Amino acid sequence: MPKRKSRPQKRRRRSIIAFEMIRLDRTATEPLHEQLYRQIRDELKSGKFSEGSSRLPSSRALATDRGISRSTVRLALSKLHAEGYLRSKPGSGTFVANLLPETFLTADQPKTNEPIQRPARISDRVRAIPDKRVGNQFDLGATGASPGVSLVASIPAVDEFPIAVWERLRAQVLAKKGVNLLRYSSNRGDMDLRKALAAYLCDFRAARCQPDQIVIVAGMQQAMLISAMAVLNPREAAWIEDPCYQQTRRVLSLAGVKIVPKAVDTHGIVIARSTKEPVPRMIYVTPSHQFPLGVTMSFQRRTDLLNFARAHNAFIFEDDYDAEFRFVGPPLPSLQGIDNAGRVIYAGTVSKILCPSLRLGYIIAPEQLVDSFVKIRSAMDQHSSPIEQATLARFITEGFFLSHIRRMRKIYAERRDFFIKQFNELLGDYFTLQVPEAGLNIVAWLKHEEDFPMINRITFDIGVRPSALSFFCIQAKLKPAFVFGFAAWTPTQIRESLVRLASALRNHSKDPNYGRQSR
Ligand SMILES: Cc1ncc(COP(=O)(O)O)c(C=O)c1O
Repeated sequence: MPKRKSRPQKRRRRSIIAFEMIRLDRTATEPLHEQLYRQIRDELKSGKFSEGSSRLPSSRALATDRGISRSTVRLALSKLHAEGYLRSKPGSGTFVANLLPETFLTADQPKTNEPIQRPARISDRVRAIPDKRVGNQFDLGATGASPGVSLVASIPAVDEFPIAVWERLRAQVLAKKGVNLLRYSSNRGDMDLRKALAAYLCDFRAARCQPDQIVIVAGMQQAMLISAMAVLNPREAAWIEDPCYQQTRRVLSLAGVKIVPKAVDTHGIVIARSTKEPVPRMIYVTPSHQFPLGVTMSFQRRTDLLNFARAHNAFIFEDDYDAEFRFVGPPLPSLQGIDNAGRVIYAGTVSKILCPSLRLGYIIAPEQLVDSFVKIRSAMDQHSSPIEQATLARFITEGFFLSHIRRMRKIYAERRDFFIKQFNELLGDYFTLQVPEAGLNIVAWLKHEEDFPMINRITFDIGVRPSALSFFCIQAKLKPAFVFGFAAWTPTQIRESLVRLASALRNHSKDPNYGRQSR
């Protein structure tokens, strides 16, 4: 017996750590050697290694196994050596250090409890959010676009953001206001910013408001969440457009609201209501430019909607996310500006005008809702960064906001025209473009519905990634189409992407198995 036991032990001493959990993402901004270093370190910290199972694979084996260069592996391993996670035994290889750095640091702390084996109890609230993403899929943000992928919907040209101006203004406000910008601050938002935004919205969106009605928020989603929580009780009904911005569904689900999808026609959201449908307490709309179809709500539909809201004691949530980018005809006034009954909650965001990472947006609240909104914001997270708010106020009052909008409108108009021309030339056999009057996206309807799975696969494979229109549909059964973004790419990049897509589709017509091997 003892002899038999010694054999597996010997084998274990030689066994090499497999590092099967390592996942390297070539599209991530984090360098590969950093990813490798971090993931090996985390695995080592798990402390699963005994004397017999602590040998690392050779750098050559690790490089071959992961399809990366040896120098990438060496960089990661030398950092782990330097930090004390590894030790070398001349002639034998590299091993996990006997005492890992974390073990030193936590040596006198009591051991944590055994991990719970049962699956964690998750609330119904989490399950109710319609979001299938898991793990590092959340690292790609709302658009799901990794760097290097093109023609993704809803991405603005952030490389045109005037970083130097922003930095200068930021330094100026910090020098002027100093520690005052470091304290907890107003739950309503920076007073200078509210004044600047009220003036801008009255002048350029024909809104009717006072600075006291403005509440600064962390973007459109927070505006929706605060509004829904303020005017709806759980399980009360909210109408949303179908198809709809995917984050709207997620936010309203989080608020516990009953979502009633409403069709969209050529005038905007369809108002007709069957007697079986609950009366909505809030109606979410994108009148300037419906997301994702691009329809601008007609004047008649706007007045019908306001009358409906008044008659049913409902609020309208006007998501004016990219109204600044209108390319055809005169600017249209906001719905809020033609509302005489305090029924419209207007919300805007700097995500498309400036950049999404600022996480700044604004609500014009009907007067009777202001305090409720601020109360929720205070309970939620107090306020957005006072430093960025004060910088934005300066950015607006010194004229940079308007000049940036004008400059971007020109750039986007050029990109849009270029995209439409190239698209029709290169891909006109496959798609019909539905060109909207405004916005940064264009819907392309398939000429042959049966092409949908093939095009869906090919766009994924070649990294030209419009969204399938069906992704935004709740009950709507629309013909197959894709939503293309054009705003964030130069004409050269647009042409290169469209040529790539057109040639992949042509190759597929010649050989239907084209591209399949790469999946
Ligand atoms: C309809 C709509 N609303 C709002 C936003 C932006 O929201 P946020 O301010 O949360 O970035 C987007 C972004 O694509 C959108 O499509």
